[in-house]
Amino acid sequence: MRTVANLIADRRDGIVQPYDDFVQLSSGAAGGTIPDYQLAAWLMAAYLKPLTLQETIDLTRAMAESGDKLDLRALPLPHVDKHSTGGVGDKATLIVLPILAASGVTCVKMSGRGLGITGGTIDKLESVPGFNTSLSPLQMVEQANRIGIALSGQSPALAPADKALYSLRDVTQTVGSVPLIVSSILSKKLAGGSKTIVLDVKCGSGAFMTGLKEARLLSNWLIQVGQALGLDCRVAISDMDQPLGAVGNALEVRQARKILSGEWVDPGTARVRELCLLLAGEALWAAGLCGDASEGYGKAQECLETGLAFKKASAWFAAQGGSLDAELPTAPNMMVLRATCSGWVSRIEAETVGRVVVNLGGGRMVKSDVIDPSVGVEVHRPVGEKVSVGDALFTIHSRDLAGLEEARKTLLSSIVVQEQPCGSPPLILDHDVSTF
Ligand code: URA
Repeated sequence: MRTVANLIADRRDGIVQPYDDFVQLSSGAAGGTIPDYQLAAWLMAAYLKPLTLQETIDLTRAMAESGDKLDLRALPLPHVDKHSTGGVGDKATLIVLPILAASGVTCVKMSGRGLGITGGTIDKLESVPGFNTSLSPLQMVEQANRIGIALSGQSPALAPADKALYSLRDVTQTVGSVPLIVSSILSKKLAGGSKTIVLDVKCGSGAFMTGLKEARLLSNWLIQVGQALGLDCRVAISDMDQPLGAVGNALEVRQARKILSGEWVDPGTARVRELCLLLAGEALWAAGLCGDASEGYGKAQECLETGLAFKKASAWFAAQGGSLDAELPTAPNMMVLRATCSGWVSRIEAETVGRVVVNLGGGRMVKSDVIDPSVGVEVHRPVGEKVSVGDALFTIHSRDLAGLEEARKTLLSSIVVQEQPCGSPPLILDHDVSTF
């Protein structure tokens, strides 16, 4: 076996690494036998000297094999997994999974924590008192068999190498690398056992891929690496130039609950709902339960409107020790920011809103940071909406007054209200794989 210092030096010098190197790195990361400083050095070298496509396939396989793989053969078909590349306010999983399960799809999913300014489903679910985000492989399969959904974070059993590398990438500025994102996502998908995956590739200022060209590149790699490893990956590239509704862990669970329960929704929440229906439509199509994505959209909408998705979400939360009706943590300080002029919202910078929420305590600056689930920002008016003087634009939730003031100043710089009407940008920017 080579020394870890040699593995780092080869990466630094751009020497193509063999599969065995990735097995050594992945098992060392998973077992804790390679110290964080060496893993972080290798990650930075990999960020600067990106892995080739073949190396990415090899790293993905090695990371997936760092733990167990779920065997879904005993579960009712079809099986579909859904994953997002990460965005600001992206709580779509909390709504899409119950829609799919209520439509007869078995969803077994591994999710991650927040990464950089982007939130993670595990952090969101942990804002629900009692919610267990660490299921064993056996528990996942048993639960999915019983109710059609099981969701867990990376664990010592499933893709443990990703758990170690993911948290280091979060705090070493090595997130935005296509090969590292691809191996992180697809190693979890391989370990999760579903062969059909719907990938929501986020594009815009609040995503790792800020432009369509890069988002298409990431999509293309996800499809190619997936294919090489026996996965059928369907990609939708979605807009992340503005936040997807509320941002902050408990606030996002509340917004998801609102959508699932069919309450009246404000324009910001309506936009989240629409994206969820589009993604669910893609997934139902990928599952073979309808002829195309628009038929899938209709099915998904029916599922939401008849309350079937709500019932499924309630069963899911209960199965993992939580409750969909649970009282969620609230921050002691709130401030509503209102429009000081009339016009149309033409920009809300997702990256800035994401940073505000991290600074409020809703994300991590260093690996050991403990997240405050109660803090965040509600975004009331999406881009394209007309506003009048006095209309609420944002509500800030903070644990202290200093945080409120700092957030206020930064948020005011993140939004533009213009005099002329402007349309709302499309939610899905591209989803025809053949065009990549
Ligand atoms: N989601 C993941 O699981 N991993 C990444 O690297 C980015 C988004």
